[in-house]
Order: sequence, then C-alpha cells, then structure tokens
Amino acid sequence: MRLLSANPARVPPTGVHPTHPVVTLLLSLALTATPASTLSGSDSDGSAQGPPRYKGRIIAPVMSAAGADWLNRPEREKTEMPDRLLDALQIKPGMTVADVGAGIGYFSWRIARRVGAEGRVLAVEIQPEMLERLGAEMRKRNIRNVRSILGTAADPNLPAQSVDLALMVDVYHEFRHPEAMVARIRQSLKDDGRMVLVEYRGEDPTVPIRPEHKMTVKQVLLEILPMGFRLQSRLDFLPWQHVFVFVKDSAKAPGPSD
Ligand SMILES: C[S@@+](CC[C@H](N)C(=O)[O-])C[C@H]1O[C@@H](n2cnc3c(N)ncnc32)[C@H](O)[C@@H]1O
Repeated sequence: MRLLSANPARVPPTGVHPTHPVVTLLLSLALTATPASTLSGSDSDGSAQGPPRYKGRIIAPVMSAAGADWLNRPEREKTEMPDRLLDALQIKPGMTVADVGAGIGYFSWRIARRVGAEGRVLAVEIQPEMLERLGAEMRKRNIRNVRSILGTAADPNLPAQSVDLALMVDVYHEFRHPEAMVARIRQSLKDDGRMVLVEYRGEDPTVPIRPEHKMTVKQVLLEILPMGFRLQSRLDFLPWQHVFVFVKDSAKAPGPSD
C-alpha cells in the first residue's frame, strides 16, 4: 500500500531495507526464491525492461517492514472500518481464518477475538520482522490463538483443507507470484471456504493511493476467476476499498497440482 501524500512521513517505504545480514538473507530468500515447480508458465513476468507484471498489471513492490508503524495509523479505523468489514464477513467462534500478508497483525488480533479460544488465526507473512512485531502485539493483548507462519513469495505454507476464510487486506497486488500463491491458498481452504480480497479502488482517482497499489474490479476478476474461483459477493460499503468474496469453483478447478 502506498499513499499519495504531500507529507513524506506518511508515505510507507516500499521495497526492503533490511538492517541485519541474517534478515537480509532471509528476506532475499523469501522475496525472490521460488521453486520452479510451484510456478506456472504465465505467472509474473519480471524482466530487465521494467517492473514485473501479471496480466498487464504492474505488480507493486512489497511494503517494507521499516514502514510498519504506518499500518497502525489511527485514521485507518475511519478509512478502512476494520470492525465493519469483519462484521460483514461473518466471522464466527471456532473458525480458522488465515490472515495472509498479515503485516503487524492489524486484522489478526481483531479476528482472533471473534473466532475465540476454539478458533485460530493463521497469520502468514514473508517478512520475519513483520512477524516479530505481530507476535509482540499479540502478547501485549494477551491473545493466544494466533499462529505466525513464515511463507515464501510463492507459498503461504498453510495446512491443506483447513481454512474457513483466507483474508488478504491490501496484499494481493503485492504478490510476486499470484498464481502460485492463490493456488496454495485454494488448497488450504475447506470445500466451503472463502477467499477475501480487499483492494483500493483502481477506478477511483480520488482514492489517494498510487496506481500499482490499487486494483479495478475488472482486473481482479480477470486474474482470480481463472484460478478456480467464482465471485460469491462484492461488498461496496468501505470508503476507499473493494471487497471481493470468492469461493471455490469446482467447474474451473486449476490443473493437476490442485
Ligand atoms: C500493505 S501490507 C498489509 C498488511 C495487513 N494486511 C494490514 O492490512 O495491515 C502488505 C503485506 O503483505 C505482505 N506480503 C506481500 N507478499 C506476500 C506473500 N507472497 N506472502 C505473504 N505475505 C506477503 C508484505 O510483507 C506486507 O506485510
């Protein structure tokens, strides 16, 4: 996510600015290493000529953990209405919810309270620094039903057939390997599981976010429907964001790896 703002202090850095050599190594592995077997031929096509693209869209750079404080900015409650969003998604006690690209857990702790002691949140990140911050946040709030998972750019490392809802808030547009990630998320969903994408509206020039960090309805459907999903509903009550609720489409199940 990257705000268009006159005030540079409010613009979160993108790209990765690791401060420690071990973190550098982990991050470069997580962000770039992708086993060939997990990628399909038409996944993102980075080249020396420009930024990586997928189906015509520029893939946004990953938001750096160095700017993580920005994810906790107070005005988010007003512009993103996290509780209203979670109400609308009908998260119930006992559910298993994957918060993919969880950042520092802005949604994870809210979901954790809703799913309760019988449920769990699987918080997936590719940046270990984000997971460290997320863990501290959960300890501070005495929340014990959030499990941190370090994924890779092509695999969230989620358990198969176990997730009721996979939530991605402001994340999908950063996936360097969207097909591989979504195929793995699909495998992690129960048969009636839902995958939810929340993305800034690409059609709306008044939404103050850089274009590569926004998505249009047309582009989301162009990308996600062939990945073996159908759109169950689209919610339009958030001031700046689209909400897409997808379910598995067995008629369009992707190939043998699924
Ligand atoms: C803009 S932040 C949003 C964080 C959180 N969802 C929120 O709303 O506060 C995007 C996050 O997605 C993570 N991310 C990007 N690609 C990822 C991938 N393939 N797997 C897991 N996390 C990823 C980034 O590391 C970053 O923390």
